[in-house]
Amino acid sequence: MPTTVPPIPQERLPALLAAMPKAELHIHIEGSLEPELIFQLAQRNGVAIPYASVEELRRAYAFTNLQSFLDIYYAGASVLLQAQDFYDMAWAYLQRAAADHVVRAEIFFDPQTHTARGVAMETVVEGLSRACRDAKALGVDAELILCFLRHLSEEEAFETLEQALPFRDRFIGVGLDSSEVGHPPEKFARVFDACRRHGLHLVAHAGEEGPPAYVWSALDVLKVERIDHGVQSPKDPALMKRLAQDRIPLTVCPLSNLKLCVFPSLELHNLRVLLDAGLAATVNSDDPAYFGGYMNENFLQTFAATGLDAQHAYRLARNSFEGSFAEPAARRRYIEQLDAAFASA
Ligand code: ADE
Ligand code: ZN
Repeated sequence: MPTTVPPIPQERLPALLAAMPKAELHIHIEGSLEPELIFQLAQRNGVAIPYASVEELRRAYAFTNLQSFLDIYYAGASVLLQAQDFYDMAWAYLQRAAADHVVRAEIFFDPQTHTARGVAMETVVEGLSRACRDAKALGVDAELILCFLRHLSEEEAFETLEQALPFRDRFIGVGLDSSEVGHPPEKFARVFDACRRHGLHLVAHAGEEGPPAYVWSALDVLKVERIDHGVQSPKDPALMKRLAQDRIPLTVCPLSNLKLCVFPSLELHNLRVLLDAGLAATVNSDDPAYFGGYMNENFLQTFAATGLDAQHAYRLARNSFEGSFAEPAARRRYIEQLDAAFASA
């Protein structure tokens, strides 16, 4: 492992950011549904949507907080009905990921958004997992993580787990997403206990809009292996110490934080604070169709705005592989590819 990255002129940094291999650990596949595909699927499935055109829909993407986004995001997902729809959505994302040199993608999906509309769990999982399998041909190792919607009940989460267990071999873990404030992680303590007993990896959104206390309970009650977002953590020095000491990966999503008004500007994003405190932060796209950028756009815009350098770039990409749920041999292979990209930069 190179402990220091050779100095790389600032003008060569954008090309390196784009070309370096990386893992995406925080992408909601329903958030990769571009307006063009929403319209195409609406027509294919005879679903009415309350927007006259792609442009009108895009104009509605002006968010003030997480909830204002989620309302539109769940409406957009209503066009997904058949396994082929889920395949087409995931395949479009995977092609974009491959173009951004994402070699490993751990993809969230929200089954309750679909089962509530009468779409079978099997339909969702079949389409998504087929796309993940086919992604090998693109050079992307893709796996699925099932997310529970935290604004719904514990009972509904247990029902969802029951529906998903026949497909246990098609997803590697579970997560927790949707409206954060008012729905603390501990609401799902028993669900996550059950998931752990099934050998699933555990992650949870915490500290996106919610307080540091939610990050603590995701760690200590749910016993998650990664925190999704976690950008509110610097408000609690003791939490920062814990995250650094245990090298807990934080899947940070800068353009998402900007579009959902978590930070007033990208210049004021705290990614550098997290890295400088020794946290295992990573860069991710969250819901790229809604937030204006896939992986490389997140790297490029954040580095341009905050003045991060090649050392940070290496650290972020390396954290993404070390924080991934890939097999150790695959992780070592990714890191060798990363080292080669920096050696030839
Ligand atoms: N679902 C999709 N994107 C999300 C986000 N940024 N936070 C919580 N839930 C989500
Ligand atoms: Zn998210």
